[in-house]
Amino acid sequence: MTFDRSIKIAPSILAADFGNFGAECAAVEAQGADWVHVDVMDGHFVPNISFGPTTCAAIRPHIKGIMDVHLMISPVDPYIDAFAQAGADFITAHVEAGPHIHRTLQAIRGAGAKAGVALNPGTPASAVEHLLDITDLVCVMTVNPGFGGQKFIDMTDKIRTLRAMIGDRPVHIEIDGGVDVNTASGVVQAGADVLVAGSAVFRGGSVSNPTPYGDNIRAIRAAASGVYV
Ligand code: DX5
Ligand code: ZN
Repeated sequence: MTFDRSIKIAPSILAADFGNFGAECAAVEAQGADWVHVDVMDGHFVPNISFGPTTCAAIRPHIKGIMDVHLMISPVDPYIDAFAQAGADFITAHVEAGPHIHRTLQAIRGAGAKAGVALNPGTPASAVEHLLDITDLVCVMTVNPGFGGQKFIDMTDKIRTLRAMIGDRPVHIEIDGGVDVNTASGVVQAGADVLVAGSAVFRGGSVSNPTPYGDNIRAIRAAASGVYV
């Protein structure tokens, strides 16, 4: 996997049909998704439960490209090997999930995955300042994690600060929550390259009618690139 800062659209399957994850992943990839974003929630770190490593392993064969696993769980460390073995390319842990995020990121890389660190809206950019040399991705939450379909919270200043802090390091900036045609351009201008979008991608389509997925992905990409269609 070579590093680049081109815009990547990562549909979150939290907005997909939970009875049909395999086909939903294949459908969004066929419709132009760059990565597939997989949201794991434990009902403890966040007030909602989604699914765990067994589901990730079941989804994996249906994804040709990058499987980007966002862990909204605490603790993280006991489950890292299970998610790595499930085939996650990126495993992202929250800086708020425990006192030893540095150890967690080392353990994720040690398990053979790319290491991501996520920041809740209330957490400053400085929380990752000493982690950038052991991190492959910083995820800036633009909603409080736990649910899809929430209203975007403006984190432009934080994204700009992080982009400057990262400098030449090969670290992605991912934005998660409320990304759509209206919010994509501002976050990309501030320095983001990975755009997670759940409702804005899956809205209007289905596995039997996947064309809206492609239309939605193209519209977000165009808005993010400053090309309005
Ligand atoms: C929120 C999740 C997001 C969410 C995004 O807790 O981490 O990935 O599914 O959904 P939308 O795009 O609908 O805000
Ligand atoms: Zn997410």
